[in-house]
Amino acid sequence: MPELAGRVAIVTGAAQGIGEGIVATLAEAGAAVLAADRDATRLEATVAGWRAAGLEVDAHTCDVADRQQAEQLVTSALARHGHLDILVNNAGINRDVTLHKMTDEQWQTVLDVDLNGVFYTTRRALVAMRERGHGRIVNLSSASWLGSFGQANYAAAKAGVVGLTLTAARESALRNITANVICPGFIDTSMTRGLSEEKWDEVVARIPMKRAGTPRDVGDLVTFLSSDKASYITGQVIYVSGGLVW
Ligand code: NAI
Repeated sequence: MPELAGRVAIVTGAAQGIGEGIVATLAEAGAAVLAADRDATRLEATVAGWRAAGLEVDAHTCDVADRQQAEQLVTSALARHGHLDILVNNAGINRDVTLHKMTDEQWQTVLDVDLNGVFYTTRRALVAMRERGHGRIVNLSSASWLGSFGQANYAAAKAGVVGLTLTAARESALRNITANVICPGFIDTSMTRGLSEEKWDEVVARIPMKRAGTPRDVGDLVTFLSSDKASYITGQVIYVSGGLVW
């Protein structure tokens, strides 16, 4: 039997990039996945592809920065499947600019999606997971949480994700719920494809494995952390970076 057979998962930011890789690996491992994204058109197209491949994936349009929509996402998964086992908070944005030039809007927009969104879904999911006595929470931060040029908003949000997740791990450890953070290094997605070719080559040259990561490199770790094999791993910050250290 596939290792995640019978498990129900939510993945946010699932229409493309790392989220798309996470949905694919979880669904291939047997989980029923609710794929959520605010880009309805792209999400429908991506989900149609998975369904054509025989995977159990449903689409749910949702802006995680909106508390009601974020909570409704969890409620919908519970209504459809009766329970929720795995929550992957992957949706994220950046608005890079040096701190002394950053507008309130650039600060707030990134905090709203990258940190508040994680809070809204995690809080709602924990209520259901605590009742059931089982859960896996995997939150996407970034190596940038340690500080990154031009990313004060993003680094602050991603550092917040680390603090939130490690707190969830402590508070829920006795309920058979694990909560871990993944920090991708440099993964080939639209977020990183926005860089100039020169900057791209410069970053890749600093990676000991000399390549950008793939969304599936991240998805494989999410799938492992979501499985029974990872039941004693909680409150950890794990890097998927080809050896790149900040
Ligand atoms: P991406 O930009 O390729 O995809 C992000 C997805 O999230 C998009 O489909 C977008 O529509 C969705 N999204 C954005 N805001 C949303 C919202 N408010 N509600 C729902 N969905 C929303 O990004 P990528 O590269 O796949 O990143 C995924 C996660 O990994 C993000 O949290 C990012 O910060 C993190 N990350 C990525 C790295 C990389 O090298 N690509 C490195 C470190 C962290």
